[in-house]
Amino acid sequence: MKPKVYVTRLLPEEALNRILSYCDARIWKGDLPPSRTELLENIKDVEGLLCLLTDKIDAELISNAPKLKVISNLAVGFDNIDLVEARKRGIQVGNTPGVLTETTADFAFALMMASARRLVEGDRSVRAGYWKTWGPLIFLGHDVFGSTLGIIGMGRIGSALARRAKGFNMKVVYYDLYRQEEKMEKELGIEYVTLERLLSTSDFISIHANLTKETTHLISKKELDMMKPNCVLLNTARGAIVDNIALYEALEEKKIFGAALDVTDPEPLPMDHPLLTLENFVVTPHIASASIKTREKMAEIAVDNLLAGLKGEKLPYPAGSS
Ligand code: GLV
Repeated sequence: MKPKVYVTRLLPEEALNRILSYCDARIWKGDLPPSRTELLENIKDVEGLLCLLTDKIDAELISNAPKLKVISNLAVGFDNIDLVEARKRGIQVGNTPGVLTETTADFAFALMMASARRLVEGDRSVRAGYWKTWGPLIFLGHDVFGSTLGIIGMGRIGSALARRAKGFNMKVVYYDLYRQEEKMEKELGIEYVTLERLLSTSDFISIHANLTKETTHLISKKELDMMKPNCVLLNTARGAIVDNIALYEALEEKKIFGAALDVTDPEPLPMDHPLLTLENFVVTPHIASASIKTREKMAEIAVDNLLAGLKGEKLPYPAGSS
């Protein structure tokens, strides 16, 4: 008999076919995530779960799935899963690291360029019919080339962004709980600094940390107050690392130049959120890893993890291993 699994969204065809050939799969086909009730109901009798970062897999849900052997998250981040509870119950958890590194770093760089040069604001203005002539003082932004980039979290994606920044002759400083080896710092041309120094000297600050208790609201009023008036804040990691209300106030009072978020808290932002009224704010719908190739590779890895877990093998990409 094929093992029963629940898949919480439609995946690229090849990945789905692999699942269907090995498993008895129930697939949630909605555009929005399954509701809590749907999840609880569908997880009851399954051995495998392939879920997304939009599914909250907490202790209650896990205890509702006595046969569960493996949870495969289609994301590199896994803050949506109670890893401790899963481990306690001997359930393996997998994620999709590596394959989305360059794609996500590309996107962080794109957000940086877009905010610095007011690209989205300019586009909005043209479409609204405000463009009357070339002007020496219209839409002035800040140069990216030669500026200082502060990276919070120097893991895979942070390092990939640092490599890009070198091509733009940027000075790169970083802050992380763990300092990189000297060899790696030399190779990337990056300098380790305290968070305070990073905040007060960077022209651009890009967040690439995991969401944990320690990083929740890591960027709040106090930190925003330390930033330079020309600073642009970028977040492609997790929304809750930034306190959105404090960010709104800093942007509204022009304490910093701009912010571009691919991730927000909550997701999506409600349409009446004050951030959405600001011109110096860019937002995208959590799409930093969304290239066709990368999403295919992520799905492939998620299926590799799922199938390995069902067979009782070690997962090729266990969450929290690097
Ligand atoms: C996306 O945010 C991911 O964690 O893969």
